[in-house]
Amino acid sequence: MNQNNRDSFSGKLGVFMALVGSAVGLGNIWRFPYLAGENGGGAFLIVYFIFVLIIGIPAMLSEFVIGRRGQSNSFGSFKRLAPKTRWYFVGLMGIFAAIVVFAFYSTIAGWAFEYVVISAKNIFVPPGDVDHAQLFEDFHTKALMPLVWMAVFMLITAFVVLSGVQKGIEKTSTILMPLLFMFLIIFAVKAISLPGSAEGLKFLFYPDFSKINADVLLNALGQAAFSLSVGLGALITYGSYVQKDNNLLKTAFSVSVTNMFVAILAGMAIFPAVFAFGMAPEQGPGLVYVVLPAIFEQMAGGAYYAFGFFIVLIFAALTSAVSLLEVVAAYFKDEFRMKRSTATFAATGISAILAIFTTLSFGPLKNVNLFDHNLFDCSDFLASNILLPLGAFFIVIFLGWFYDTKQTKDELTNQGTIAFKLFPVFLFIIRFVAPLAILAIFLKEIRII
Ligand code: PHE
Repeated sequence: MNQNNRDSFSGKLGVFMALVGSAVGLGNIWRFPYLAGENGGGAFLIVYFIFVLIIGIPAMLSEFVIGRRGQSNSFGSFKRLAPKTRWYFVGLMGIFAAIVVFAFYSTIAGWAFEYVVISAKNIFVPPGDVDHAQLFEDFHTKALMPLVWMAVFMLITAFVVLSGVQKGIEKTSTILMPLLFMFLIIFAVKAISLPGSAEGLKFLFYPDFSKINADVLLNALGQAAFSLSVGLGALITYGSYVQKDNNLLKTAFSVSVTNMFVAILAGMAIFPAVFAFGMAPEQGPGLVYVVLPAIFEQMAGGAYYAFGFFIVLIFAALTSAVSLLEVVAAYFKDEFRMKRSTATFAATGISAILAIFTTLSFGPLKNVNLFDHNLFDCSDFLASNILLPLGAFFIVIFLGWFYDTKQTKDELTNQGTIAFKLFPVFLFIIRFVAPLAILAIFLKEIRII
């Protein structure tokens, strides 16, 4: 605990692990590969990388400043930094987005449990001829098991959040993240060594710029925000637990580089394998669930790899889900003076109601469509492509135009004790580059420019 009795991370390593835990998740292993697959591979990777640089990292730094200055949840921090204004709406919008993301996140993470069970069975009894697309179709369109696994995932997440900032959030990430890196490196090496893998690497790294259109830009923007956990206040909330002597610049940079590295590693594990086995990269959200099991099956010891992979997927998802739930729980705890436990359960309960819909949207509620998309797709689109970029937009505008520049500089240089030579560049980016880029992408998407 620090001076004002607020929870805090234990130190530099704890901060780094918790933040990497939040950033690295389904976004890297499930979402990035399938979006890259649908949006042209290498060209998408480059646009995504540019958006991380000019929007993601500056927005991440801005959230850190708001959280560490505000010493509160995302709503409370805005209230403190901008009293008597309506900026707290940005915090509220983020809390709403966190509920939505936590809900659909739990649907996808829940599926991984089923696949852990399937792989475990396959270790003992090797399967005969399996049609993996059919298997996935049969499972994820049902009601009962997807709901049960979604609930299991939510409860584990709640348990971690309940255990507190250091003992729950930080400790879980510190144990799980190194394991995840290790596994992913093994998978990538394995995939690259498959005959015919070069096509996959080419797909991932060779940019075909003719593929870039308004949708690709919006998807890359959404993915940049989603993947760095930017735009809904997760980093404001975590920022409020970061010690005053932490070098926020170094932290933001190292977290973003690690996050990018893991996305590329996941791509290198998946695409070479996809191409080596002659499958299509544009499978959509089922990519890792349909393609990978088919590939594992053809490898010696594949069931073990499959088992390991889906456990890793759960780890990655868990440490990110924790940061989503913490956004909502911290808000309830600070603003309604609830105990951590009550706040956590209240937040989980609300998300769970929505998660029932996102989970069933592949089966019984398949035909409930909004704008031609099921409820899952709508939630993902609304949160990732609209609310998160919009949140990032307001966050950089707040810091760039509204909040006192001197205080921002103080916070980023730890009261002048560390250098930040590029501060004017940072200011220019959060004032002009990032907000205008987000605006342009939105306008392009709705065909105004
Ligand atoms: N960054 C996480 C991922 O890539 C998801 C996330 C988004 C977490 C927003 C917190 C806030 O999986």
